[in-house]
Amino acid sequence: MHKIILDCDPGHDDAIAILLALSSPKEIECLGITVCAGNVPIELTAKNALRVLSLIENRIVPVFKGCPKPLVTKLVTAEHVHGESGLDTGSGVSLPEPISNCEKQHAVEFILETLSKHSSNEITLVATGPLTNLAAAYTLDPKTFKKAKNIILMGGAGFEPGNITPAAEFNIFVDPFAAKSIFESEIEIFMFGLDVTHQMIITPKRLGLIEKSSNSIGPTTADLLTFFNSYDTKKYGWNGAPLHDPCTIAWLIKPEIFQMKKMSVEIETNSGPAFGRTIADWFNVTDKNKNVNVAISGKSDQFFDLIAERLSRFS
Ligand code: BDR
Ligand code: CA
Repeated sequence: MHKIILDCDPGHDDAIAILLALSSPKEIECLGITVCAGNVPIELTAKNALRVLSLIENRIVPVFKGCPKPLVTKLVTAEHVHGESGLDTGSGVSLPEPISNCEKQHAVEFILETLSKHSSNEITLVATGPLTNLAAAYTLDPKTFKKAKNIILMGGAGFEPGNITPAAEFNIFVDPFAAKSIFESEIEIFMFGLDVTHQMIITPKRLGLIEKSSNSIGPTTADLLTFFNSYDTKKYGWNGAPLHDPCTIAWLIKPEIFQMKKMSVEIETNSGPAFGRTIADWFNVTDKNKNVNVAISGKSDQFFDLIAERLSRFS
């Protein structure tokens, strides 16, 4: 059983990551959802996390608002992918309004308080947005932060081109200085970057599987993913959008879906065309510390079957 804090910026694929985590109580106990600014500004990522909980009538999991901007740079958002709300749907019908509120405590305080209340190596931090909240917590109290068992993150691209610039993946690009601090923290990192998420394509068949998975939330989830598919299908010329963020949770549930390789990964923070790139040393040419377990491939049918099976639990 993994005790997790899920730090995210919902966002369509973040929403699926939340649903996957909360439908897997045997494998995952979600102690809280913390939100950062990313796909949309923080007021909207917070509202969207609450809306996803409202969709499944969950009043239990607490939501904490975190940092409204990256550590150093100006916030870059992705309304072009996720729509103005951050969770636009294909039909234009919005997700239900929140049935709960955010907690008063700041996300960074919640992360540190939770880590301090638990033993070392008990809490897994899952991050599916820019790493601002995690880096702020690490900076504020490195000793407590290092009690985390590991960090499972969606971000970066070791060998794949970028998706926001030719070099960089969105989450790392939005806050490369936060990413640098986390990648240098010596906490064990499992990185699900574009190398593997670009294998997880929401084809029409898989969309149909998700739509039929659950009477209560299948059609709404498919409606969300229909919108998500629209931009990326055109951009990539593929048969659907890549479903990034749930790879993190899927790995916690079924690690056998993914193949990992440990290597040194550094973050480029110098300005220029490679700003925000994750530089991965596949051949160990630098002999630098192998600080990251990089997901290098994944079984996409098993991944989507898992999602559909877990969504069916909400029927
Ligand atoms: C990442 O960027 C966001 O738009 C998605 O939610 C995902 O976390 C993919 O690059
Ligand atoms: Ca995200």
